[in-house]
Amino acid sequence: MEERLKFYGRIKSRALTSRQLFLYNNFLPDVLFTDFADLKTSTNILEIGFGNGETLSTLALENPNKTYIGCEMFVNGIASLLDKIERNKIQNIKIFNGDARLFIKQAPNKIFDEVLLLFPDPWTKRKHHFRRFINDDNVLQVHRILREHGVFKIATDHAEYASAIIKTMQAHKSIFALTGMYDQNTRPNWPTSKYEIKSNSTQIMYTVYTAIH
Ligand SMILES: C[S@@+](CC[C@H](N)C(=O)[O-])C[C@H]1O[C@@H](n2cnc3c(N)ncnc32)[C@H](O)[C@@H]1O
Repeated sequence: MEERLKFYGRIKSRALTSRQLFLYNNFLPDVLFTDFADLKTSTNILEIGFGNGETLSTLALENPNKTYIGCEMFVNGIASLLDKIERNKIQNIKIFNGDARLFIKQAPNKIFDEVLLLFPDPWTKRKHHFRRFINDDNVLQVHRILREHGVFKIATDHAEYASAIIKTMQAHKSIFALTGMYDQNTRPNWPTSKYEIKSNSTQIMYTVYTAIH
């Protein structure tokens, strides 16, 4: 995956602890995603931007028969997930330590059963909206990699981004049906992430879109 796209988020924040550094250098190679052929027969879930990996690790522990692929650029977040995988001896997570957009571009058609996009960076300033993950191209790409009846789950606590997401998805209603919409009172049974805990919980929107093929 040689291609590069401009990435605007943080790649690294504070220095890694010695354990995190050890895991990053020595354990990451064991859990790196390598081959789409490995996903042919399994139930596959992709998380775009897993942050510190709370959701991904919880789901993987709860569903040992499913395969979880997480994409993340943020080195500290990857190190946090590595720690969870190692401590809990999780066997069913593979990490793509790069840009999710490139990963998705390389993915074959109809390979994932679920795609999770939880609290994507809202890029609040209007001049930065073009950086948001939800745009026409990415929506088409996510649809392409979803299997029949595959689902795309999106959560955000940013009201304006929530409206923009609904509008963009509505423009693709021939390929994505809105099959669930929840708020903090009707919260779906998704594991809570670090971002969600510190988020503006009074205006979280959770949506589920089902792929139409
Ligand atoms: C606001 S955080 C939310 C993290 C996590 N989903 C949560 O709920 O705690 C957004 C995450 O998406 C990651 N991210 C943004 N764009 C990405 C991309 N193109 N590929 C991979 N990760 C990305 C960022 O590095 C960041 O960790």
